[in-house]
Amino acid sequence: MKKLVTIFVLVFGLITFAQNKIVINADLGKDTINRNIYGHFAEHLGRCIYDGFYVGDTNKIIPNTSGIRNDIVEALKKMKVPILRWPGGCFADTYHWKDGIGEKSKRPTIVNAWWGGVTENNSFGTHEFLHLCELLGAEPFISGNVGSGTPQELADWIQYCNFDGISPMSDLRKKNGREKPWGVKYWGVGNEAWGCGGNMRPEYYADIYKRFATYMQGNSNTKIFRIASGPYGDNYNWTEVLMKNIPLNLIEGIGLHYYSVIDWNAKGPATNFTEEQYFKIIKQALKIEEYIEGHSKIMDKYDPKKKVALVVDEWGGWYDVEPGTNPAFLFQQNTMRDAVLAGVTLNIFNNHCDRVKMANLAQTVNVLQAVILTEKEKIILTPTYHVMEMFNVHHDAVMLPSTVISDSYKYNNEEIKSISCSASRNKDGVIHISLVNIDMNKEKNVKIDLRGQKVNSVSGRILTSQKVQDHNTFDDPKKVKPEVFKDVMLLNNVIDVKLPPFSVVVLEVK
Ligand code: AHR
Repeated sequence: MKKLVTIFVLVFGLITFAQNKIVINADLGKDTINRNIYGHFAEHLGRCIYDGFYVGDTNKIIPNTSGIRNDIVEALKKMKVPILRWPGGCFADTYHWKDGIGEKSKRPTIVNAWWGGVTENNSFGTHEFLHLCELLGAEPFISGNVGSGTPQELADWIQYCNFDGISPMSDLRKKNGREKPWGVKYWGVGNEAWGCGGNMRPEYYADIYKRFATYMQGNSNTKIFRIASGPYGDNYNWTEVLMKNIPLNLIEGIGLHYYSVIDWNAKGPATNFTEEQYFKIIKQALKIEEYIEGHSKIMDKYDPKKKVALVVDEWGGWYDVEPGTNPAFLFQQNTMRDAVLAGVTLNIFNNHCDRVKMANLAQTVNVLQAVILTEKEKIILTPTYHVMEMFNVHHDAVMLPSTVISDSYKYNNEEIKSISCSASRNKDGVIHISLVNIDMNKEKNVKIDLRGQKVNSVSGRILTSQKVQDHNTFDDPKKVKPEVFKDVMLLNNVIDVKLPPFSVVVLEVK
C-alpha cells in the first residue's frame, strides 16, 4: 500500500510538474512599458552608417532621401522604432560634432580609431542623423563625447540642436540651413567610461559626470534627459558609486551594457552553431534579469521614487564575424537563436518596466544583432527584426504581472526554464501576451490563466522555422517570417497553446 501511494505521489507530482502554466494578473496592471524599451543603436562602426543607413546623396542606384536609404526607413517605420542612439558606442568619445556640420566638401576626413582605423569623410553628421530620426518618426538619443571632449563642446552641441533664440550655436545652425531647433531630449554623458570612454574609476567618472551634467541644461529650451555611462553586467560597484555621489537633480538615467557572448576569445559562429552554443547564449541572455534586479536594488536605496531610469543602452548577441568580412566591422548573420534571445530579453525588460525605461539593441544595420542587413541594393529583415515588429504591441501599454511555472530545458548537467512570458493591456483594452519556447528540441503545451479578465477571443502570430540555425539570406530573404498562429484554444477562460521548439509567439486577447 505504502509503495502504491509513493508511486501515485510520484506520477501525480510529475504530471503537475511537467505542466507549463502561466497566470496573468489582468487586474493588477500598474506600470507602463515605455516604448523606448524597443529602442535601437547606430554607431559609426563597420557598415552601420556608411554603406548601411547612408549611401550618400549623389547615389543614383539605391533609392534614397538626401542619402538615407528609403527601404531601411520604410522597414524601420513598420517595426515602429521609437528611439535611436548615435553616434556611439566607443566612437562617441572620439567624435567632435563640429567636424560633421556645414558644407560637406569642407568637412574633415577623420580616422575611426576604434573600428578598423578606416577613414570617413563626415558626410553623415548631426543634420543627417536628425533628419533620419525625423524620417523614422523616432526620438534621437545623442551620446556626448566625455572621454576626449569638453563640457563646453557638449553644451555647444545642445545649444546647436535645441536653442530657439539668438545665440552663437543657434545662429550657426541657421547658417547651416536649419531654422527651427530639433529639441533633442535624450543625451548620453559619455560611453563605457570604465573602458573605451576613458578607463576611469567610478569615483572619478562621478565627478566628471557632475561637471558635464551641470552645463547641459542652461542653453536649452528642451528639458534634457541626461544618461550617465553605466556599468557592464554585474559591476554593481559602478552603480553604487554613481548613485551615491550624483545628486538626483543632475541625473535622469543610468546606462547598463550587456552582451550575450560565450567567451570573448571564442565567440562561436553566428549561424553554424551547436546545441551547446545555443544553450550557452540563451543562458547568458537570461542573466540580464539578475543584473537588472541587482542594479535596481541599489538604485532603490538612493532613489526610492524611481525617478532615475535604468537604460540598457547596449544589448544583444555577439558572435564571430561572418567569414571573409573585416573583423573590426562586427558583421554577423542572425538566426532563430537571435529571435529567441530577443524575445526573452524583451520579456524581461517588459516585466521590469518600473525601472527599465529605455533599451537600445546593438545595432540596427549590419552590425552585431542587427534587424536589417544590406548588400548593395538588397536588404533583408532578420528574425530579430520580426520579433521587434511582433512585440511592438507592448509599446506604452500597461504591463500585466505574470507568474510562469515551467519545466526545464536541459543540456548536459545544466538547465534553464523553458518558457518566457510578458503581458500588457493597451489603451483600447486589448491584452497582448508574448511567449517564447526556449527549448530547442521539444514542443511545449502551456495553459494561460487570465485572472480578472473574461476572454472572448484569442488570436496570434508565430515566428519559428525548421532549424534553429535558419536565417534570411539575400537569395532567400523570406525564409524566416511571422505566420498566423493556429495552435491555440480557449476553454473555460483558459488559453491553451502548443509552442513549437525555439518559437516566439504573440497572442492578442479580447
Ligand atoms: O556595440 C559595439 C561596442 O560595444 C560599442 O561601441 C561599445 O560601447 C561596446 O563595447
